[in-house]
Amino acid sequence: MNINMNPNSELHQSIVNVPNLVQVPDPLIKQAYQFQEAMMMYTCAIREIKTKLEVLNDELSVRNSRNPIEMVKSRVKKPLSIVEKLQRRGLPVTMESMMENLDDVAGIRVICSFLDDIYAVADMLTRQDDVHIIAIKDYIRHPKENGYRSYHMIVEIPVFFSDRKKWMRVEVQIRTIAMDFWASLDHQLKYKKEVGDSSEEISAELRECAEVIAQTDERMLKIRLKIESEGITVSK
Ligand code: GTP
Ligand code: MG
Repeated sequence: MNINMNPNSELHQSIVNVPNLVQVPDPLIKQAYQFQEAMMMYTCAIREIKTKLEVLNDELSVRNSRNPIEMVKSRVKKPLSIVEKLQRRGLPVTMESMMENLDDVAGIRVICSFLDDIYAVADMLTRQDDVHIIAIKDYIRHPKENGYRSYHMIVEIPVFFSDRKKWMRVEVQIRTIAMDFWASLDHQLKYKKEVGDSSEEISAELRECAEVIAQTDERMLKIRLKIESEGITVSK
């Protein structure tokens, strides 16, 4: 990797001007540059997949007169979370280890309107020959014990830089609005109050909510299919 350690850059200044340190060793500065470059590469990978999703959404919305994708969210994992995950898995805390072992440094969440839209989006992404599928976890057909549902794909796509092509890994989570509602609240509840697996009653409640939500998703799909097949115009 060709690194231009520009002493006037913001990164360089922020490293060199660390208070109470006379001198930051060169290897550390180099590592900071490499990390910043890697994060930029993940951001580019996210942008590539987002563009693909926008194209799919435009095409499908012209064909079906409705948008299969409601929203796309994305994030690059924070440095502290990266270190925490590598340590938790007993892996070396290095950039090579991160790029080799972590599949979710770049993450994209696709929120679809209906259940079948999830599989339509996943299929179309799979059929693109510059998208390599590394792993699939279908937590919709096989929900997690706690009720969590989503379609997870780990994909690799090529990102073209000035001097090379790099295959970058991205985690794509595809779910309905309803599944996203459940997962967001589940995350919030656990995050705020540290509700572990200890509380059986709360776990059972959450699982039940997930079931109700899944049934509602199926009913909404049936309603849409009925309207489409019968050519019904529903008054607004
Ligand atoms: P992580 O170490 O969390 O990345 O899990 P994993 O490598 O076993 O992958 P998995 O596909 O099971 O989960 C990846 C991501 O899915 C998580 O980081 C969450 O964003 C989401 N997820 C998985 N399980 C749950 C859950 O029970 N509740 C919520 N809210 N999100 C979940
Ligand atoms: Mg994760």
